Amino acid sequence: MQTVTTIAEVRAFAEEARAGGGAVGFVPTMGYLHEGHASLMAAARAECDRVVASVFVNPLQFGAGEDLGAYPRDIERDTALAAAAGVDLLFVPGAAEMYPGAVVTSVRVAEITDRFEGATRPGHFAGVATVVAKLFAIVGPCSAYFGEKDWQQVCVVRRMAADLSLPVRVVACPTSREPDGLARSSRNVYLTDDERSAAPVLRRALQAGADLVAAGVRDAARVEARVAEAVATEPLVVLDYVAAVSADTLAPLDPLVGEIRLLVAARVGRPRLLDNIGLTVPA
Ligand code: PAJ
Repeated sequence: MQTVTTIAEVRAFAEEARAGGGAVGFVPTMGYLHEGHASLMAAARAECDRVVASVFVNPLQFGAGEDLGAYPRDIERDTALAAAAGVDLLFVPGAAEMYPGAVVTSVRVAEITDRFEGATRPGHFAGVATVVAKLFAIVGPCSAYFGEKDWQQVCVVRRMAADLSLPVRVVACPTSREPDGLARSSRNVYLTDDERSAAPVLRRALQAGADLVAAGVRDAARVEARVAEAVATEPLVVLDYVAAVSADTLAPLDPLVGEIRLLVAARVGRPRLLDNIGLTVPA
């Protein structure tokens, strides 16, 4: 695996791959890689001729008072993990390479970003959409791999790619979990031992909500109440939101029918943790 820091080097690599008829797969990350990231890289490896991954802690998507400066970093470990996962080219740009001047152009996806993470973190998704659009323009992948763990992010990127006719297939990969069900996240390192023990309640709570739907309940408020009640059994886990919504638009659904996503966010000590589960309810 080769590691590069400039846009020109990534372009040269991707152009050569495409010229030889090779399909380029792309996995954007902010580093501090774990098995969740590795699963995206493995999916890209299985489907594409060349795999490019990026590690860039994107300042545009962090709000004032968020953890930009403290975001965990370990580029040596990341390099080893990416190489082991089959990445061919790792792009690790500095902020000056990505944003040499003031950023006056941004990509904003409306409506779908009004609620949930977008409401809690104003400007976050404009930062995500802008950097992802820029990375797509740099790499020119045929397929780009994102984790279902950040479901709203998947929806935002898909909508952006569709609305801007970007020639890239956005692939959503299943959430990789610890053996006790906790969704893997770079921010899990912030958890104290007690918080770490409490955090898997999020997965169990989502499952309790899904069980209710499987038992025939179609009222979103009842399902959301069931999830909230389960989360409340762990005092260290403070619920931010729970919602049963349409999987692709994130709009409210009443009754619950079709492709549904149950979303949950909670503060567990320092970090906010996200999780979600998908359900299909035939009409
Ligand atoms: P980051 O949080 O590093 O995540 C990079 C990718 O890994 C995202 O698509 C995320 O959903 C996925 N991922 C994280 N944890 C996962 C898990 N447990 N299972 C499966 N996939 C998982 O998300 C970002 O970075 C940034 O917003 C980015 C898209 C790179 C733009 O800066």
